[in-house]
Amino acid sequence: MAATDLEQIVNLSKRRGFVFLSAEIYGGFRSAYDYGPLGSLLLRNVKNAWIRAMVQERDDVVLIDAAILAPPQIWEASGHLANFTDPLVDCTNCKQRFRLDKLDDPDTCPNCGRHGTFTEARQFNLMFKTQAGPVEEAGTVAYLRPETAQGMFVNFANVLNTSRKKPPFGIAQVGKVFRNEITPQNWIFRTREFEQMEMQFFVPPADSARWFEYWCQERLDWYVRHGIPRDDLRLRRHDADELSHYSAGTSDVEFRFPWGFDELEGIAQRTDYDLKQHAAASGERLDYFDQVTGERYVPYVVEPAAGVTRTMAAFMLAAYDVDEVGGEERTLLRLHPRLAPYQVAVLPLSKKDILTPLAGEVRHTLAGRYMVDYDEVQSIGKRYRRQDEVGTPICVTVDFDSLDDKAVTIRDRDTTDQVRVPIDHLVDEVADRLGF
Ligand code: GAP
Repeated sequence: MAATDLEQIVNLSKRRGFVFLSAEIYGGFRSAYDYGPLGSLLLRNVKNAWIRAMVQERDDVVLIDAAILAPPQIWEASGHLANFTDPLVDCTNCKQRFRLDKLDDPDTCPNCGRHGTFTEARQFNLMFKTQAGPVEEAGTVAYLRPETAQGMFVNFANVLNTSRKKPPFGIAQVGKVFRNEITPQNWIFRTREFEQMEMQFFVPPADSARWFEYWCQERLDWYVRHGIPRDDLRLRRHDADELSHYSAGTSDVEFRFPWGFDELEGIAQRTDYDLKQHAAASGERLDYFDQVTGERYVPYVVEPAAGVTRTMAAFMLAAYDVDEVGGEERTLLRLHPRLAPYQVAVLPLSKKDILTPLAGEVRHTLAGRYMVDYDEVQSIGKRYRRQDEVGTPICVTVDFDSLDDKAVTIRDRDTTDQVRVPIDHLVDEVADRLGF
């Protein structure tokens, strides 16, 4: 069973320290969120799982980390200054503001219900503008990047010249981006500051359609491999009027959120649009010379672009479950072991000093390999429930017998089954169970 109501996850997140409203002590700041001790680990694991699949396990993709602040020339050439806009309308009755393209009925205000009260639509640019340097003058304007992708395009020649890669090859990046969204909503689903995991895959133009199909399938499979049921995912092709200014065709990976299917990731055919734009604007050559065929061409780009924070929400929603243990209801997150904030929790049966040194040793042995929580507060039953609720796949209990038999009890989150394991074999046993 997955969460059917977003509030189930929002509340669990607050209660257990996944996600907090940003600047909460000042009443919160404009739909911004802070990731707490557990949320920051989960977020990091989502990014690591993506880098693992997209870079580590392949030999045709490299990783970069480009600057967040970027000069206007980049956004002029990329088309974002002119086109990265949303149509904005105001209701003259209730003064609420909406994105016209997200309204079910463009004549009726969803807030006050009045008809015909909207202003003319204005195009609102979503980029955050700032200045680099102490004096506000021409030449100091900079923008916070609204997508990581431009970092890959402007570094295309740098990577090509230094990495020994040739098309088909990809440049990947994970990082913060900023969009001045008109209607941030649904918790961490749409915010003004968020993280993206994007990859530009540069291919010979004639192969672009084939690679597009490949990446659509590959990305869908990634979510399934990490625990989202296939039935809760779908691929949806964009209609022509939905396409971004740079795209000749996009399919979204959508997840069944509590409010319906919605976007997790877009896979776009960006053609040679961006490289040509930057080549023309910068005067630099951004193409590839194939020494075998003697052909020079501007590669086409297939781009899988996912949101980290949105993906984290989807993993939590899909993993949420309530079952019954010993006649009592328990809430758990059935997170994939690679995503769970902690892979293991070490729980001495009692706080008594006599158990502390051995429990500390066990924690130390595991902590070299895994993220480990150590908890000796409250009854063991309550501690198991706490770990279940934050998705820890394995609990290791150190009890008084452990002092004599040098063994501990391993408890499985999903089945609650328990087995006794010699401490000498503990790391291997944990690795077997986690699968890494
Ligand atoms: N480089 C292409 C690009 O940026 P996009 O569809 O605008 O494409 C990619 O963004 C992904 O970033 C989306 O599929 C979504 O997961 C995430 N995303 C976009 N806007 C977001 C927002 N305001 N808050 C959280 N995630 C967002």
